[in-house]
Amino acid sequence: MSDRVEAAQKLASRVFGTVHGTLKPQVICDHGEGIYLFDKNGKRYIDFSGGPHVVSIGHGNRQVREAMVRQMEKVSFFFCSFWLNEPLKALAERISKVTPPNFTMCQFCNSGSEANETAIKIAHQYHVERGKPEKYMVISRWQGYHGMTLGALSASGHTTRRLKFEPLLHQWPKIGAPLCYRCAYDLSYPGCKIKCARALEEIINQVGPQYVAAFMAESIGGAGTACMVPVSEYYPMIREICDKYDVLFIDDEIICGFGRTGKWFGIEHWGVRPDIMTSAKGMTGGYTPMAVVIIDQKIDKVFTEKGASFIHAFTMEGNPVSAVACLTVIDIIENEGLVERSARLGEYFFKKGREKLSRHPTIGDIRGKGLLMGIELVKNRETKESFDPALRVANRLQQIAMEKGVMGYPTAGMDNGVRGDAFLVSPPFIITEEEIDVAFDMLDEAFTDFERSLNVSIK
Ligand SMILES: Cc1ncc(COP(=O)(O)O)c(C=O)c1O
Repeated sequence: MSDRVEAAQKLASRVFGTVHGTLKPQVICDHGEGIYLFDKNGKRYIDFSGGPHVVSIGHGNRQVREAMVRQMEKVSFFFCSFWLNEPLKALAERISKVTPPNFTMCQFCNSGSEANETAIKIAHQYHVERGKPEKYMVISRWQGYHGMTLGALSASGHTTRRLKFEPLLHQWPKIGAPLCYRCAYDLSYPGCKIKCARALEEIINQVGPQYVAAFMAESIGGAGTACMVPVSEYYPMIREICDKYDVLFIDDEIICGFGRTGKWFGIEHWGVRPDIMTSAKGMTGGYTPMAVVIIDQKIDKVFTEKGASFIHAFTMEGNPVSAVACLTVIDIIENEGLVERSARLGEYFFKKGREKLSRHPTIGDIRGKGLLMGIELVKNRETKESFDPALRVANRLQQIAMEKGVMGYPTAGMDNGVRGDAFLVSPPFIITEEEIDVAFDMLDEAFTDFERSLNVSIK
């Protein structure tokens, strides 16, 4: 083992948390440029995971760097509760230009988990201000993921991420994920009559609508469902049920927001307007920690009419350097037509991905939208049997892919929360068709080696 790897391992072992037991990093990341990351030895990797799902405009963008430096030369920090914040105001205005007109307010935070935490509190205080303080429950979905903090984790149905913290979590009800590949209700579309959406109404009635504050869901699934795309009827039905029972619809756009799926926000694929949207990753492009809660005017109106302030503040929220970074990232996304590009390239991305990878016997399903793809790994394609979780096959695949020079994101839990593995890919929006070809060629080779290591081969 080289001195560098040893030093990196020592360093990594001092960093406490990893995502659901991902393997310890082996390689020091040195720098990034466009769609590439480079290690200390100068080896180049295609950042086909985009972070995961973070890197939208590519690494090392000069415009963003210069904008951040200009702001740092003026001032790097002031507390939002003491000062008006011009960069943040400009960012809120910028965001309002790309969201549907029903959204009139933004609350900024530093991470996706904080944004979802914040959204839960806004939803509850909204009901409190309306004289309905008993509306507190947040219904969500099994295999959904909304963050690591306790409120966001309570709304998350990602079993492996919850298990050890269960006693600390709010025991809020959950419904099955709208994942047709592994239907939670053992039904098939369209005969199912969208049971996964109707389940929301059933559970609201079971627990009592007077106790339900909100329904929270990722528009298109992330880590726990490997980019699940619900059927077209799903969100219109969810919207109707939420309206019927005075329940707010919180749409988690932490991954999908700001162009990842070929629309500014994933939920736009269904033409449905949520009451609250949270977003983070792509809006920052990875240049800074930042997240936003985008709030409907009906909530704005209640707080305004009551003269109520939202009891909430993070010291670092709305950092002006982060605000100009996000502003510049969104400008670049808009000026360079990257949302349209994500939609257009997305077609190519899925065509090529299926063409190059479908023959692999360990691939059960390839799903997603735009530049967000989930590849579900199975032991048996016919029966959809998943691998023994102890094998951590997605992590193994990631290691092999990295050796080939391509990054992806290993995840698990799509088979009832405790089994099922997947490998997600979501490249920067600036990737070209040629680069997509190269990345899938590398992944094709990685799958071949991976399958060889499992003694599975293409017949
Ligand atoms: C859909 C979704 N929501 C929330 C989060 C939490 O965001 P963060 O890791 O920035 O706290 C994530 C993170 O991956 C996510 O994918």
